[in-house]
Amino acid sequence: MKRFERVLIVGGSGMLAGFARTLCNHAVRVSVLARNEKRIRAVSDTIESIACDYNDGVALSEALSQIETPDLIVAWIHGRAPHARRALAESVLAEGRFVQVLGSAHGDPGHPERLAEMAKAVEGLPIDYQAVVLGFVLEGGKSRWLNNTEICDGVLAAIDSERALSIVGTLEPWSAKP
Ligand SMILES: NC(=O)c1ccc[n+]([C@@H]2O[C@H](COP(=O)([O-])OP(=O)(O)OC[C@H]3O[C@@H](n4cnc5c(N)ncnc54)[C@H](OP(=O)(O)O)[C@@H]3O)[C@@H](O)[C@H]2O)c1
Repeated sequence: MKRFERVLIVGGSGMLAGFARTLCNHAVRVSVLARNEKRIRAVSDTIESIACDYNDGVALSEALSQIETPDLIVAWIHGRAPHARRALAESVLAEGRFVQVLGSAHGDPGHPERLAEMAKAVEGLPIDYQAVVLGFVLEGGKSRWLNNTEICDGVLAAIDSERALSIVGTLEPWSAKP
């Protein structure tokens, strides 16, 4: 995996905590942005915590202005949150990378516009963009959601691949979604 200088993981204290810990081996500095500072600190001693609600535009701008410009931002954001997504994309270093981790609804073949809407965050910016859609797992004739280990491994593999779009697990057949 490419080595990064400064990485910011938005929503990195939940299911992406293992991913955040692994990225510490591939970056000079890793920060996690989430609301609960204690929960961020529990991820790792070496991770910088940024306590902030990404739905609070003023607080987000202030938090982003106080950190060294990241060359990689990985964002797991609930809801559409166009302003937060744009503010984060605008904070990435020129020629850096913005990675959005997206729920399975963004892979719904009946709604291709959802992925396009997420990509608007980087419109006109001189940065690379990757979308990582979390799918599901088919096993033993049944389907289930991904577990945290599968999600963390999948996001890491997606970043390593540098592909514009990655699917963790599968989205097919869509009708088999849990
Ligand atoms: N396709 C799939 O299989 C799939 C997809 C998604 C989730 N899941 C599963 O569902 C479980 C729960 O997922 P989850 O969505 O609750 O994710 P999570 O990653 O466990 O928690 C959300 C993360 O975002 C932060 N966050 C939430 N709202 C925020 C806000 N307004 N501002 C800043 N940070 C915020 C949370 O920290 P704070 O609360 O401290 O802010 C936390 O770090 C996961 O464990 C995963 O295994 C599966």
